[in-house]
Amino acid sequence: MREFRHKIFRINGTIDSDEDVMSPNLTSCHQSYGRDDLLVYCCPPENPQNLKFIDFKFPEPSKPLRVRKPAHLLDEDYISKYSRAVSIMKSLPYSDPRSFSRQANLHCIFCTGAYDQKYSNISLNIHRAWFFFPWHRMFLHFHERILGSLIGDDTFALPFWNWDSPEGMTIPEMYMNEPLNHKERDGSHFPPKVADIDFVDKESGLGPQEQIEKNLAMMYNQLVSGAKKTELFMGCSYYPGEGGTCDGPGTVELAPHNTLHTWVGSSFNPQREDMGAFYSAARDPLFYAHHSNIDRMWEVWREIHGKNLPISDPAWLGSYFYFYDENLQLVRIKVSDVLDLSKLRYAYEKVNLPWLNKRPKPSVSPKLARQVLNLRDTGGSRFLYAEFGGNARNLEASMTVKVYRPEYQRTKKEKEEEEEVLVVYGIDVESNMYVKFDVYVNIADEMKINPGFREFAGTFVRLPQARSTDIGSRKSTLKLGISELIEDLEADGDDSIWVTLLPRTTSCMNTTIDGICIEYMR
Ligand code: C2O
Repeated sequence: MREFRHKIFRINGTIDSDEDVMSPNLTSCHQSYGRDDLLVYCCPPENPQNLKFIDFKFPEPSKPLRVRKPAHLLDEDYISKYSRAVSIMKSLPYSDPRSFSRQANLHCIFCTGAYDQKYSNISLNIHRAWFFFPWHRMFLHFHERILGSLIGDDTFALPFWNWDSPEGMTIPEMYMNEPLNHKERDGSHFPPKVADIDFVDKESGLGPQEQIEKNLAMMYNQLVSGAKKTELFMGCSYYPGEGGTCDGPGTVELAPHNTLHTWVGSSFNPQREDMGAFYSAARDPLFYAHHSNIDRMWEVWREIHGKNLPISDPAWLGSYFYFYDENLQLVRIKVSDVLDLSKLRYAYEKVNLPWLNKRPKPSVSPKLARQVLNLRDTGGSRFLYAEFGGNARNLEASMTVKVYRPEYQRTKKEKEEEEEVLVVYGIDVESNMYVKFDVYVNIADEMKINPGFREFAGTFVRLPQARSTDIGSRKSTLKLGISELIEDLEADGDDSIWVTLLPRTTSCMNTTIDGICIEYMR
């Protein structure tokens, strides 16, 4: 029935009922799925029965534009203004929804499934699907308005952590001083350490320049070659109700988003809290600068790929959430309200995109790689085929499989219309573990590879999160756009490719995969 309904409103372009859009049941807040061994409760103290809300209205067009700037380039005045706003916010009592701890808990509520959906008792989780970008945009919008109003400045804008540019790749200095400093971080990652957007739990061992180059090449894959179709970037379509759950994050959510959360958090805490786990992440002021850059990436992606309306599905556009504004008003806001920055009266200062021309190179010449791969092919046995015949495969060691391409030697036009997508499906992760594995195509030597090379198709990253009975009931899917990669590896005429899954965390031992295949996406 649900399936059927979705088809209907895709054709009509309208929604017939509130049940078809995602929204939280505000009276349902319960313990959240933070950690198995720890009670995490972040619900608001107000009595949910008495809540009154208003519908979101755009700020007056005459309001000044708030211009978000790179954190590492801010001047003293700006830093002291922002610091003052955060100090005031931190001094507000917990009963005030504008207080810093309430803001942090707002993220905890929505990101760890503390609310049920409005029409079912299935929990609502805004990560790992198509609400990731719009929900965080809403959160930052209200957070920024509150900060501005606390210092009486309606031009105030949040800074962004410009980690995609070499000069911005360290933790910005301003976040090392009170009140923007935060105790629960990894001390070995303080400046001048260059961030590793491919971080797992060990140091990459790379020097600063090598790290920067690797980050830029990986950025290119995540934003350009791997994100040519909307779903690849935005994540899967997540509908309300049973059967609507999906777990398929977009490229940027997986990395650099997830990986940098982990990189910032303290290695002394079980889940690298605070930044390393969603229930605690927004307690660190750096969270807001990290997400400001994530939000900026959404704009940048739209510009590069010329996509004006990323998703036209009314079930996405009409979904709504609630936030308190600077006047302590509870506001209901829809996804369709946050698609135009100028209407929200903010903008990003234009900065260079140094990764835009960093198309990665193959680690060895594709001809040489093919010779090695062909030898293996005839040698047989060690290599599996991608159909696991109903038996999920464990990722305790690296796995190389031959994947057939339903179409090859496609024309240029066909390639432009349909992206070739490598699908790793049925990914089943043990609860509460940080899991990362990487996916490569046609590699000759596992030991000489990393995500800075062209063979890298993408990465699967899951932050630790306990499982509710329903959050975990759906396995994950990883979809990776590979048309450009196939071309660069000169594999376009081949009827199959070799796909290698490389486990990066020991938790991969408890991760299974149902199979790998190739799909075409319009
Ligand atoms: Cu809701 Cu960076 O997380």
